[in-house]
Amino acid sequence: MSVIEKLGLAALHRLDPETAHGLSIKALKLGLGAAPGPVTSPRLHTQLAGLDLPNPVGLAAGYDKNAEVLGPLSRAGFGFVEVGAATPRPQQGNPKPRLFRLTEHHAAINRFGFNNEGMEPIERRLSQRPRDAVIGLNLGANKDSSDRPADFATVLSHCGPHLDFATVNVSSPNTEKLRDLQGKAALSALLTGVLAARDGLSRHIPVFLKIAPDLTEDEIRDVAEVALETGIDAIIATNTTLSRDDVHERHRDVAGGLSGKPLFERATRVLARLSMATEGRVPLIGVGGISSADEAYAKIRAGASAVQLYTALVYHGLSLVQEIAQGLDQRLQRDGFANVSEAVGTGRDEWLT
Ligand code: FNR
Repeated sequence: MSVIEKLGLAALHRLDPETAHGLSIKALKLGLGAAPGPVTSPRLHTQLAGLDLPNPVGLAAGYDKNAEVLGPLSRAGFGFVEVGAATPRPQQGNPKPRLFRLTEHHAAINRFGFNNEGMEPIERRLSQRPRDAVIGLNLGANKDSSDRPADFATVLSHCGPHLDFATVNVSSPNTEKLRDLQGKAALSALLTGVLAARDGLSRHIPVFLKIAPDLTEDEIRDVAEVALETGIDAIIATNTTLSRDDVHERHRDVAGGLSGKPLFERATRVLARLSMATEGRVPLIGVGGISSADEAYAKIRAGASAVQLYTALVYHGLSLVQEIAQGLDQRLQRDGFANVSEAVGTGRDEWLT
């Protein structure tokens, strides 16, 4: 991390977290922030569900909810960028405060509730996107929708022409009853509808499913079965957790989803179980608590073909992306792997106990 980045982060951390988030978006618009361009090497270069990624380190959904900084994020060193969540109609989200820093744990709790400008302005920004990056959209449903499953398909049909991938997010804990859509019958119907919308696009794009880290073993098996039956292209594991195990800061008991360091172990265990349940037949994307190359590498060895991160950027800045990608390259070389896919799942058993 450069001195300027360190000072910038220290200044942001003196502000209320949501104000700091807004300012970080403004800073990126002004051209401030790390911009190493694509970080890649023959070892890092990889394929994910038909996507060609310069490296397997992606930005997780929720940072750029309105697709405002696609250019700067595309130059920050990520192998792929996911923006959103976008809902059909604009939505305010939950009352503030709704984002909390747990500094001691390098964690956050958020209960934003899909605040976003809606798919119309988001689609307009996506239409101006950089062409040389891999960009996807996290799909959400309006809180007051009479047909939430249809909302996912609506956003996909509207924004799909400008996307490289889309993610069905039924795992946010901040929209009441949304997680019920992870149940077998509901999930199957929902994905069938979304995949039909995808098939209506003029260009084929992969569709991912994002799951919660709070699923039981049986529920994980059900998700795997539905994924295999419906032909979803990849699964992202995981979203934020409702658990507060091993968390003891003052914000511990605020309502919302916990992300960052304390999520790492739980999310990686779910990833490994999902890898077992899908028998490597569906690519997995590992998310949750990654803040170093070692943790990114552990996710890959637990079964992930690629990874994403968000909360660690709040504590380490955007330069972390390049650091993790380069560190991953070194670890692959050290252990004799010619590329990312050779390493996928090689350490899965450690996470299954
Ligand atoms: C998120 N996350 C999220 N996920 C999603 O699928 N749609 C969303 O809109 C959001 N919004 C969101 C906002 C904020 C403030 C945070 C911190 C997180 C979840 C995110 O993409 C990721 O799955 C988790 O945060 C776990 O990864 P990290 O943050 O521990 O690296």
